[in-house]
Amino acid sequence: MAKGFYISKSLGILGILLGVAAICTIVALSVVYAQEKNRNAENSATGPLPSTASPAATSRATSTATTSTTTTSSATTVDQSQLWNQYRLPKSLVPSSYQVTLRPYFTPNEHGLYIFRGNSTVRFTCQEATNVIIIHSKKLNYTIQQPGGHWVVLRGVSGSQPPAIDRTELVERTEYLVVHLQDYLSVGSQYEMESVFQGELADDLAGLYRSEYRDNGVLKVVATTQMQPADARKSFPCFDEPAMKATFNITLIHPSNHIALSNMFPKGPGVPLPEDPTWTITEFRTTPRMSTYLLAYIICEFSSLESQSPDNVSIRIWARPSAITAGHGDYALNVTGPILSFFSQHYDTPYPLEKSDQICLPDFNAGAMENWGLVTYRESAMLFDPESSSIGNKERVVTVISHELAHQWFGNLVTVEWWNDLWLNEGFASYVEYLGADYAEPTWNLKDLIVTNDVHRVMAVDALASSHPLTSPADEILTSAQISEVFDTISYSKGASVLRMLSTFLTEDLFKTGLASYLQAFKYQNTDYRDLWNHLQQAVDAQSAVRLPANVSTIMDRWILQMGFPVITVDTSTGEISQEHFLLDPQANVTRPSQFNYQWIVPISSIKTGIQQSDYWLNGAQRAQDERFRAAAPDQWVLLNINVTGYYQVNYDQDNWRKIQDQLEMDPSAIPVINRAQVIHDAFNLASAGKVPVTLALDNTQFLIRETEYMPWETALSSLNYFKLMFDRSEVYGPMKTYLRKQVQPLFFYFQNLTKQWTERPPTLTEQYNEVNAISTACSNGLQECKELVTQLFNQWMTNPQHNPIHPNLRSTVYCNAIAEGSEAEWDFAWAQFLNASLVNEADKLRSALACSDEVWILNRYLSYTLNSALIRRQDATSTIISIASNVVGQSLVWDFVRSNWRKLFEDFGGGSFSFANLIQGVTRRFSTEHELQQLEQFKEDNSDIGFGSGTRALEQALEKTRANINWVNENKEAVLQWFNANSQ
Ligand SMILES: *[C@@H]1O[C@H](CO)[C@@H](O)[C@H](O)[C@H]1NC(C)=O
Ligand SMILES: *[C@@H]1O[C@H](CO)[C@@H](O)[C@H](O)[C@H]1NC(C)=O
Ligand SMILES: [Zn+2]
Repeated sequence: MAKGFYISKSLGILGILLGVAAICTIVALSVVYAQEKNRNAENSATGPLPSTASPAATSRATSTATTSTTTTSSATTVDQSQLWNQYRLPKSLVPSSYQVTLRPYFTPNEHGLYIFRGNSTVRFTCQEATNVIIIHSKKLNYTIQQPGGHWVVLRGVSGSQPPAIDRTELVERTEYLVVHLQDYLSVGSQYEMESVFQGELADDLAGLYRSEYRDNGVLKVVATTQMQPADARKSFPCFDEPAMKATFNITLIHPSNHIALSNMFPKGPGVPLPEDPTWTITEFRTTPRMSTYLLAYIICEFSSLESQSPDNVSIRIWARPSAITAGHGDYALNVTGPILSFFSQHYDTPYPLEKSDQICLPDFNAGAMENWGLVTYRESAMLFDPESSSIGNKERVVTVISHELAHQWFGNLVTVEWWNDLWLNEGFASYVEYLGADYAEPTWNLKDLIVTNDVHRVMAVDALASSHPLTSPADEILTSAQISEVFDTISYSKGASVLRMLSTFLTEDLFKTGLASYLQAFKYQNTDYRDLWNHLQQAVDAQSAVRLPANVSTIMDRWILQMGFPVITVDTSTGEISQEHFLLDPQANVTRPSQFNYQWIVPISSIKTGIQQSDYWLNGAQRAQDERFRAAAPDQWVLLNINVTGYYQVNYDQDNWRKIQDQLEMDPSAIPVINRAQVIHDAFNLASAGKVPVTLALDNTQFLIRETEYMPWETALSSLNYFKLMFDRSEVYGPMKTYLRKQVQPLFFYFQNLTKQWTERPPTLTEQYNEVNAISTACSNGLQECKELVTQLFNQWMTNPQHNPIHPNLRSTVYCNAIAEGSEAEWDFAWAQFLNASLVNEADKLRSALACSDEVWILNRYLSYTLNSALIRRQDATSTIISIASNVVGQSLVWDFVRSNWRKLFEDFGGGSFSFANLIQGVTRRFSTEHELQQLEQFKEDNSDIGFGSGTRALEQALEKTRANINWVNENKEAVLQWFNANSQ
């Protein structure tokens, strides 16, 4: 999956509002919780059901049995022998193939419910003797079958006689259909089990679900799927774990004027349904062996664009017909071919399927999903309109496509055994997405951006004592909520960061050799991360150019089995170098023990006074000493971690810091651009941790007055955003704004000049990004020329709404600043434009800019709209609330709102599109007083009965962060105030 929320590069002053983007895959959290509560209450009141009560018998009257009341005594008294009470499937039965027929209905039934009907047959082998069949099933109602009178019919394959069925039941908590048999299945025999069922085609974004949109005012319904991580079971009964690979034969029954898509091509043209020829039966080819979470099927009235990749893979892009006609799918189509051929080269393995369909849906929870051969996207991640989309939207499209296509091999062809190793799947795709996108857009320097987007971003989380290692024990990740929680920024961005480090110290060629042999060895199978290390080790052993201080696994285990990362400290007067676990809050208590004592084997590249030094390995805590790191002469300086390929931060003696500052002010080009960003980033982090004075970090921003590159500016702005959050309600903010205004002024006029008075865009991607930074920083810090620019542009648009004169790149920041400068008229105009926007990119820009108002009542009204899905789509509710919270005026409104609506938020949105982790992070980011800490603790206590779902860890992190903020403000406020006062002239 791609990340759920995207931080648009061009959001300007809002651009950093999400800071830490965790992932939103909330899988029916509230449902799980509500059910557990219900069940406990029920059972303690009524006592266990007698074990003879057959749910099948009780439901015979209605032919369609209910799922919701059939739990047995075993649901609460967990007995280890009762395998259906355990979340992991027993190993006794192994599926080999499924036949699945599904028919979604596109109009509601007599109860006003949209439903789908289906039947399926699964073939499996008995590996260990068992007298019970346990298979996943969620929210499905089964029909009694004849002969036998049970929900399922069991057949032996090739003549073997199956035991008779005793009874069937559904266990809600663990989401199983359980078939109790009168005798044992025989080891080594194959069986087939058939069932007929129906489920709700709900708008809950999970399993087989319903998405809606309007086409020329006509309501259209789409039936589509999102299986990852554990909702294939909501569509048909299946052994729903990633290692239970099987082949699938999907058949869809659909209205004849709709299109039916699945992982594979259809076997042939559809045939009319005998009893109703307005429906068509489309049968798809058998899939390769694959995991259930990668299945997809979609029935819709979309249209498509087609081409062929250089290796003859058939490529199609699907979207609403109006989007295709308008050409919004063209860019996706153009980049897909090159990216597919890039990856088949990179992996040295052909694309595993005949076709690659990509489709974007009006309602979609994640950013995108890598279903094998049928990738799904939210519209903003796939459609691009040159008229109204920004360059940031375009970059988003190419990187998300690259990410999802990378999974078609890594993840889909070879799949991790269990969700505890999700980091390998997502971290890998999050790393190579830059390589694939760079191949498609070679002039954009995309590969550099991983440093700001992933490495630096995740360090902010990984430097907390409440962080967690990349991989966790498999038995700690069991429930849907626990699985959802591993889709976090650690898995994605730290995974990407350490794999990039590994690829750098191995060299990319060696990494690719090991990778190709891993894919070859494990295709259609499952692995854990050690299998990758083994194949990389084999590649290392087969050559002699690259020498490592230890085995790949010895080095890498320290990066993935323990949380956090080291800070490397260098004393350039002696050349001494050492490492230590870096914690943002020096007082934080690390309660999680590490078998490696928080020490790492660290690859260290360095520059001495402009000259690159040979690589060095730091192993262990002992103080090492090396000439590379000694600055013998007074004009010599040392800089570590070239291009931030290593996942660590660096601290120096004060003298060396000062020399780096001097170099930056004299001639920054002696320091690579990524390292100019690093110097700022690391210094601010070190200052937070109390390892350098805060004034040293601020001193490191002085050179920006002559800097025009994006990476250093972007880093400084996100580092200073912390100061803004801590101080924008205090007297520090005035001098801070004056300083920033002074620093950004030359950049603003640089771009004014470069763009001929803002009439054209600068040539490169990063220049275009930095142009936006210049405007947003200049405006938000009160540069008069900037305020005039945005107000004038916005007014031109208000005067002539049919013609928007604002370039798409600049829209986010112009809208936001004009709305902040303006009043009700500006807001209402933007709201009307939002409701009218046909392109989601444009709607998204307006939606976040609407949060920029500084009128409390306007923000309050806007906040109330987020609970009304007719105004703000459910998938967008969280990010809208977070946008409002990022505005200093909206912050306390949102906190009140979240506190008073927590139960409602949890109950209404838990099963759908709410990301509690993002929400909690977003709303608590300014917390820095004792009073706020108490409120947060109170919030935790007050809602302990409802719970926090996938926001549980985020809440703990918020508490820790608030304590750290309180300390930081106490210790630094005075010095910061003085520094800004002294430097704002
Ligand atoms: C589904 O039911 C139809 C009609 O009874 C039958 O022909 C088909 O074989 C069944 N499919 C599966 C997968 O069981
Ligand atoms: C399944 O059965 C339950 C209980 O009878 C009912 O409330 C629900 O609507 C049914 N679902 C479908 C899709 O028929
Ligand atoms: Zn992914």
